[in-house]
Amino acid sequence: MNEDALDELAGVLVSATRVAVLTGAGISAESGIPTFRGAQGLWKRFRAEELATPEAFDRDPRLVWEWYDWRRRLIAEAVPNEGHKTLAVWQKAFPSFSLITQNIDGLHGLAGSADPIELHGNIWKTRCPFEGTVRENREVPLSELPPRCPDCGRLLRPHVVWFGESLDSRILDEAFRRCSSCQVLFVVGTSAVVHPAAALPQAAAEAGAVIVEVNPEPTPLSRTADFCFREPSGRMLSRLDRRLEARRRSSARRTR
Ligand code: APR
Repeated sequence: MNEDALDELAGVLVSATRVAVLTGAGISAESGIPTFRGAQGLWKRFRAEELATPEAFDRDPRLVWEWYDWRRRLIAEAVPNEGHKTLAVWQKAFPSFSLITQNIDGLHGLAGSADPIELHGNIWKTRCPFEGTVRENREVPLSELPPRCPDCGRLLRPHVVWFGESLDSRILDEAFRRCSSCQVLFVVGTSAVVHPAAALPQAAAEAGAVIVEVNPEPTPLSRTADFCFREPSGRMLSRLDRRLEARRRSSARRTR
């Protein structure tokens, strides 16, 4: 841990009023959920084009649902780690705090973050492609595979964004708005290669935000980030939060 950088960043945060965070699969790694592109990543073991595209679903909906059912069972065993919990605390620690995630695991919500912006959907939701109805479904395992719409009987799909699909434009616009108006943007646990999410840090930087990367590995963002912490996010975020708290207490004492 780079103690000086951590101190410097705590100094920036203690006076910041608008903070945003973009998270990726890496923030859930310490909760035991596999990432996509790391050494043990899901895309090393599975072929995305067979499981996470509209064509794959049309070709073999049962196979796609078996894979999501397997991931749901994995995620159901996971609990939020220090990284998720710290971000949930920060929701109330800054006048304006935005949490934007690429993750579909729902762990930010479980940690107490109120309405995170879920760019790629949520694995605990299904959608009827015909009516558009989105429902919460936390059955583990799914009782019906593939699940059917209770209203029209058609096959439901996971309420997630697949490769080759567009994100919900309202959600994406809101994410860009939050990133373009923040003073500090944390980019936590993402390889920063999947667009349009990967364009969010650029929008924040162009608006003058301080960019903080938290990732044990370098990414295309590392060159331009103002701070790079090469370590697991759970440890780094909780250490930073303790520094921030200490600074807040000492500045409160000074103003008495
Ligand atoms: N703390 C922080 N970062 C970590 C940790 C950790 N403990 N462990 C791994 N990482 C980093 C890895 O170094 C990697 O850079 O997390 C990143 C995960 O990258 P990806 O697996 O590519 O996941 P992500 O960036 O979220 O992928 C984006 O791609 O497959 C699609 O829709 C899927 O939302 C996903 C999108």
